[in-house]
Amino acid sequence: MKLNAEQLARFDELGYVFIPECFSQKEVEALRQAASDVLNQQREEVWREKDGTPRTAFACHTYNEACELLVHDARLIEPLEQLFGERTYVHQFKINAKAAFTGDVWQWHQDFPTWHKDDGMPEPKAMNIAIFLDEVMPINGPLMIVPRSHRVGELESAHDLKTTSYPLWTPDNETVSRLVEKDGIIAPTGKAGGVLMFHANILHGSAGNITPYPRRIVYLTLSAVSNALTNPTRPDFIAHRDFTPVEKGASDALARYADEHLVSA
Ligand code: SIN
Ligand code: MN
Repeated sequence: MKLNAEQLARFDELGYVFIPECFSQKEVEALRQAASDVLNQQREEVWREKDGTPRTAFACHTYNEACELLVHDARLIEPLEQLFGERTYVHQFKINAKAAFTGDVWQWHQDFPTWHKDDGMPEPKAMNIAIFLDEVMPINGPLMIVPRSHRVGELESAHDLKTTSYPLWTPDNETVSRLVEKDGIIAPTGKAGGVLMFHANILHGSAGNITPYPRRIVYLTLSAVSNALTNPTRPDFIAHRDFTPVEKGASDALARYADEHLVSA
């Protein structure tokens, strides 16, 4: 799947592209079952909220087949190869649960400062791709983005360990206010199956979820192969050390997996 001229122009101008209903309901259902299975496991890669509710499952593509198929999906790989002009490796893969009632905030941040300072990633030539596993609504802690903020480059930031989030480098409130005053905040919402790709320097965050509606999102981080990590300090399951180009699988791989494995309700 290639981005069209309008999507490329929007990405350049705003710093993100949203593709509603990119994955079918059948594919989403297979991924939701994978997410439930993964998030219920007790292992070091699954991080929790203060009350023990699963919050983030890192690197589950290494032990869950549906997640592994997703990593090789051309709908995710091709647009990034197109934007970077080269092949990509998997820097990170995770499911953020943002559970009903207990899902806690993700502070305002740009992704690149954490990749740069904690992993030694040289350039912002990497990107997060979000795949919605539940409907993302204005009320259940959607990802909020400050459009055009990717153009300001890497902001000054401090290491913030105040929440149940994985540690992030975050700018101060004055900086966030200044950028928001100029360009506002948007929150792409939509059905499960939607895909949101956003620039490594776009400013984003999300509020807590006190609704009964979970907001599970998968994040695949792909980086250009020329942009290998030089000094990763985070565990391997958070910042992978394999910089070989990710291969594209068959276009119907996830749909076929769903046909073979879906447990009907
Ligand atoms: C992130 O940016 O690391 C996650 C934000 C979210 O899932 O709301
Ligand atoms: Mn982020």
